[in-house]
Amino acid sequence: MNRRRFAGTVAGAVFGAVLPDLPVRVTTANRQAPRVNGERLNTHLRELSAFGANPQGGVSRVAYSDADRSGRDYVTQLMRAAGLEVRTDAAANIYGRRAGTDASLKPILFGSHIDSVPDGGNYDGDVGALAAIEVAQTLGESSVRTRHPLEVVVWSNEEGGLYGSRAVSGQLSPAEMSNRAWSGKTIAEGVNFLGGSSDRITDARRARGDIATYLELHIEQGGILDREKLNIGIVEGIVGIKQWEVTVTGFQNHAGTTPMDQRHDALLSAARFVDMVNRVVRAEPGRQVGTVGRLQAFPGAPNVIPGRAVCSLELRDLDAAKIDRLFEAIRSEAQRIGEASGTGFEYRSLHENVPAPSDPVIRELIESAAKELTYTTRHMPSGAGHDAQAIAQLAPMGMIFIPSVGGISHSPKEFSTPEDITRGASVLLGAVLLADKR
Ligand code: GLV
Ligand code: MN
Ligand code: MN
Repeated sequence: MNRRRFAGTVAGAVFGAVLPDLPVRVTTANRQAPRVNGERLNTHLRELSAFGANPQGGVSRVAYSDADRSGRDYVTQLMRAAGLEVRTDAAANIYGRRAGTDASLKPILFGSHIDSVPDGGNYDGDVGALAAIEVAQTLGESSVRTRHPLEVVVWSNEEGGLYGSRAVSGQLSPAEMSNRAWSGKTIAEGVNFLGGSSDRITDARRARGDIATYLELHIEQGGILDREKLNIGIVEGIVGIKQWEVTVTGFQNHAGTTPMDQRHDALLSAARFVDMVNRVVRAEPGRQVGTVGRLQAFPGAPNVIPGRAVCSLELRDLDAAKIDRLFEAIRSEAQRIGEASGTGFEYRSLHENVPAPSDPVIRELIESAAKELTYTTRHMPSGAGHDAQAIAQLAPMGMIFIPSVGGISHSPKEFSTPEDITRGASVLLGAVLLADKR
């Protein structure tokens, strides 16, 4: 296990005297800052990547799949081994709790998710979830008692649209329970499959003020930290995301006998829609992004003009009003496409993640934890969605990023180095301890 213990009694500048016996790597720069057991954490990460392993070297562990369930069993077992008292809520989120010394205090909550996108990688979500367990285990082994109770959380179905965390924040609408997830199950079926209870989904809700602090460690999923050779990103805010299912209706007809000027080709209109979305989103300055990531034609035969096409539309920005404005612009351009080709567009809202700024005090506390460990930092926005943005509705929230090599994510090629993962987890440990002092 190669654990190194710091036997000194001099309290660190920020970690203070609460840490009598934490494992640390002794450096000349700083002898006090506590660190997690990186070797163990990276072993757990490797072991978790076996569940849903895909041939490209990543994982396809979509929410509610058999692989998701097995992966969750594995992390549940890690939580128990870390001395946590485990429960699953009605939305199938897994919580592991450790009591604090002051029963009147609300818990510090930290964690992430372990479900993946189809053909995903081994780091998105997994790093934060396993690091949270590692932090609890490190504290347990060092007999450090925090004042606040600690709760480690593994959220359910993050990738499908923050379903588990939005159930907790009260942002999940009953209509969304019949949305179909990538596993093929509806949200309701999936939640039940994982041991939750779709009929009692509102039981998962927590009230504003019920959580003292929420922290999440995550890979950056973009290339800023890697390019600038920095250790730690401190998230300023998380983008808002809106997704729609777009149905284009034309007229199904024979591909051999229908002249080219007499067609109402739904797929052709959808193709023009895809191009138009890209043009509209790029037409103004800013960090907004728009994507059509899925497109299907019906009936889907080479000799049939498609009568129907269904695609997704996703818009993201830190400003919710900008997302709405872009959507209206896309809608009116789509109407023009439809009028010119005798096709129609309909939109069904799939879900919304509201933009969320992180808490300035938590940002400072993460910065102090990183500086105590002598890591380089920068503040940055998150272009990816995270459970943290749902929980920001209830509690002061902060997120810690570590570099993604080459800025690649949602891909089997996603990679973060074991050293960066260990650094991120140690910053999480430090941030939890500083949050405990608030
Ligand atoms: C989650 O990873 C998202 O940003 O879609
Ligand atoms: Mn994620
Ligand atoms: Mn993701």
